[in-house]
Amino acid sequence: MQFDKDKKILFSAAQPSGIPTIGNYLGAIKNWVDLQDEYNCIYSIADLHCLTVKREPKDLRRQSLDLLALYIACGVNPEKCVLFMQSHVPAHAELTWVLNTITYPGEMTRMTQFKDKSLRHADNVNMGLMDYPVLMAADILLYQTDIVPIGSDQKQHLEIARDIANRFNNRYSPTFVVPDGYIPKVGARIMSLQDPLHKMSKSDDNENAFISLEDDRDTIIRKFKRAVTDSDNTVAVGEDKPGITNLINIYSIFANKTIEETQREFDGKGYGEFKVAVGEVVADKIVPIKEEKERILKDKAYLDDIMIKGAETANYLANKTIAKVYRKVGLYTPDKK
Ligand code: TYM
Repeated sequence: MQFDKDKKILFSAAQPSGIPTIGNYLGAIKNWVDLQDEYNCIYSIADLHCLTVKREPKDLRRQSLDLLALYIACGVNPEKCVLFMQSHVPAHAELTWVLNTITYPGEMTRMTQFKDKSLRHADNVNMGLMDYPVLMAADILLYQTDIVPIGSDQKQHLEIARDIANRFNNRYSPTFVVPDGYIPKVGARIMSLQDPLHKMSKSDDNENAFISLEDDRDTIIRKFKRAVTDSDNTVAVGEDKPGITNLINIYSIFANKTIEETQREFDGKGYGEFKVAVGEVVADKIVPIKEEKERILKDKAYLDDIMIKGAETANYLANKTIAKVYRKVGLYTPDKK
């Protein structure tokens, strides 16, 4: 694949850890699709990151392929974007090692996600869990990335990637582009439908708390009908109305409307009617994605081909950076004959 020299580089990734939710879609994947013409885009499946939490190897394998099919079903175009598995590009692990030598344990243990996951997986607080943000920094910095579209829960990890890039550049001379985040104004933090003070998460024990990208129409509408809201019954955003604010955000993005337009549309109508409308607009978008993903998944050869080609390009780009890094830190390289 040829990159357009006039376009900036965009990198992002998601973990193949369970079925993505509309949070992953609105916070990240939808924006990946919207930005794919404007940037040279590289999208990875962060399978190495997944090893930080115990899971069945066969599930990880299946979910990795599944996520690639999902990216494409959501509209990521494999002709325009580089799509690859993180583990198919050894430079991610190699750069992580070098970056580890300029990162400090205290920086890692103060990360919100590390603290949350340490509590949730108290029997498995492994080195990988702590090192997770350094691997993420390596993902980004290897491609001389200009912009990283993410949801707001990943903002802290992006900040540390920027710190690490600056630190390396200062210590060894300019080597990495220092990336900016792209965090959407609406949709960067989709909240749980059952506890709107917490973010929607695919690992939530309560299935009614999230809409997965595999839910069928009836399930989607049922979950929205059960969504926790206040008793005010006025469809309007407000700090004291986190549940309805979340639903208004979701509706507005899926219906392609501003928050004001949505509020006007449902002026004088109650929560019951609004919740059904949210369910319908979400189902109209999500159900075809699920069907398309299932169709794509049947063609394993097609998916394998995309990831092999993607890894070729990614390896080419990543190896250029890693060679530079090894040289700068003083690792000896023999002259080529
Ligand atoms: P992951 O797999 O948890 O999530 C993928 C993307 O979805 C966003 N997201 C959300 N956005 C809005 N509302 C929510 N409730 C919500 N939940 C998740 C996340 O912010 C993310 O953008 N560490 C990353 C994957 C990763 C990565 C990278 C991302 C690995 N290397 C390099 C960017 C650049 C993660 O676990 O995302």
